[in-house]
Amino acid sequence: MSTHTGGDRAPVTVIGLGAMGSAMAETFLRAGHPTTVWNRTASRADPLVAQGAALAASPADALAASDLAVVSQVDYEAMYDSLGPAEGALKGRVLVNLSSGTPQELRRASAWAAGHGAELLPGGIMVPPPGIGRPGAYVFYSGSEAALDRHRRTLAALGTPTYVGADAGLAMLYYQAMLYVFWSGLSSYFHAAALVGTAGVPAKELLPFVSGMFADLSSDGPMGFLRQLTGEIDAGAYPGEFNNLRMQAVGMDHIVHASRDAGLDTGVPEALKELFERAVERGHGSEGLTSVIEVIKEPKR
Ligand SMILES: NC(=O)c1ccc[n+]([C@@H]2O[C@H](COP(=O)([O-])OP(=O)(O)OC[C@H]3O[C@@H](n4cnc5c(N)ncnc54)[C@H](OP(=O)(O)O)[C@@H]3O)[C@@H](O)[C@H]2O)c1
Repeated sequence: MSTHTGGDRAPVTVIGLGAMGSAMAETFLRAGHPTTVWNRTASRADPLVAQGAALAASPADALAASDLAVVSQVDYEAMYDSLGPAEGALKGRVLVNLSSGTPQELRRASAWAAGHGAELLPGGIMVPPPGIGRPGAYVFYSGSEAALDRHRRTLAALGTPTYVGADAGLAMLYYQAMLYVFWSGLSSYFHAAALVGTAGVPAKELLPFVSGMFADLSSDGPMGFLRQLTGEIDAGAYPGEFNNLRMQAVGMDHIVHASRDAGLDTGVPEALKELFERAVERGHGSEGLTSVIEVIKEPKR
């Protein structure tokens, strides 16, 4: 079906040449894949064409060039804008979309692609552009495992393909779960740095303690709370004999006051305090911290 021959490397098309798509196309080129590119703003393809990419004149030509097309655009609407007019060229193609979206958008896009005879393999790429193809890079995929298997070797150039299930929305659920931990964990570090900063302490003085805590949390040792509390989540049991939630809600209130006294923004600490207190009000006060998941799962009553 493809218009290229490139040794034993399969041809691939990249649609969307922002920071991510450009880095992906470069990675495919470096790995020896005949690479066709298309972008709404054609001039962004210039550096890739200089490296050997073929610039497609239209989205339909881009789809026709390879059995596999990797889409990386700002969102899923951009995919419809680009490929909507080229729906006739979708038949028989595997479309990997690594753009950000919601799980529902991924499911809808999967049905849209199937309606045009294509298979959509949505994914979430877990590295920034400079990390693509580097050790440790991985990509969550969901949808058709057979489609992933057919193109696994090509897609592995970007990062380790990590299949999470047949429900098309799953890749984005995993991606968002990871981003949420990343953003909220680091934002809490920023707040902590600002808090000690109000007493003239530079963040680098706090850093060893925080990095020690992050390492401990992931360890198998006595402070390996991540593994321990995961067991509690899955068991739905939250023992709190050594550190009950009522005590921790009071401690969280102290952080709100300390932040307010120091003139800092209290939005996030207040939200956490309120979460803890709601769990206490619902009868979890003598249980452990993990019991707040009950409020997260059932926010309204
Ligand atoms: N950058 C990261 O660190 C990172 C990490 C993981 C995942 N992601 C995800 O990867 C995706 C791309 O990110 P990026 O950093 O490459 O973004 P970006 O540099 O802002 O590029 C956005 C791309 O989307 C295209 N686009 C926007 N609206 C369009 C439309 N209506 N029709 C056609 N094309 C349209 C742009 O085309 P034009 O050039 O014509 O404007 C451009 O190619 C996003 O969904 C992002 O969430 C990014």
